Amino acid sequence: MSVSYMTHPLIKHKITLLRKESTTTTEFRSLVEEIAMLMGYEALADLETTEITIKTPIEETSQPVIQGKKLAVVPILRAGLGMVNGILALVPSARVGHIGLYRDPETHMPHEYYCKLPDPIEQRQIVVVDPMLATGGSAIAAVDFIKKHGGQKIKFMSIIAAPEGVKALTDAHPDIQLYVGCLDRCLNENAYICPGLGDAGDRIFGTK
Ligand code: PRP
Ligand code: URA
Repeated sequence: MSVSYMTHPLIKHKITLLRKESTTTTEFRSLVEEIAMLMGYEALADLETTEITIKTPIEETSQPVIQGKKLAVVPILRAGLGMVNGILALVPSARVGHIGLYRDPETHMPHEYYCKLPDPIEQRQIVVVDPMLATGGSAIAAVDFIKKHGGQKIKFMSIIAAPEGVKALTDAHPDIQLYVGCLDRCLNENAYICPGLGDAGDRIFGTK
């Protein structure tokens, strides 16, 4: 697996704001979307292009466009939803799938409650989005599910990751490309990322 850590100062700055306890729900939502867009710009830098012939007001010319079937963005519910519009700002024609998973508060194991992917999925570039990669359980389950449905070209974007989650996802799915906004120190006894930002779903949706 290739793992890319974001180095752009704008991404770093916005992640710092995201972490702050005093950041409001409105600010948090905007920041998640902006970071997703900036990370998406980096993560999609290797999209393949093909040449098409167009006519400018001056002459006919052969120029590049993105090749292949429409991209699929797949948020892991709930928190991944906050990143979707950031990717759609870059690729407005992308299809959107959904995978519903929640972590059991006691065991921290992921439980699936919903899944709907764009059809056909096989040839598409898939970008799975979830702001938090903690134990890696949710990410692994989501990628397992996508592969079971035929998905092959998979990128995974998380804004904040724990080393434990990066290792687990790397071990389970060495063939995918992982993009991490910031690698944090560790997980605490409740499997929350430290220093992290708390519960991403609750902060995006204003619950709790
Ligand atoms: C959070 C987060 C990830 C998961 C990461 O979701 O958005 O999906 O935890 O943890 P893991 O790497 O240990 O699996 P959560 O289960 O809290 O659900 P929510 O998005 O509905 O709040
Ligand atoms: N899920 C979150 O929302 N935050 C964490 O720190 C870990 C899992």
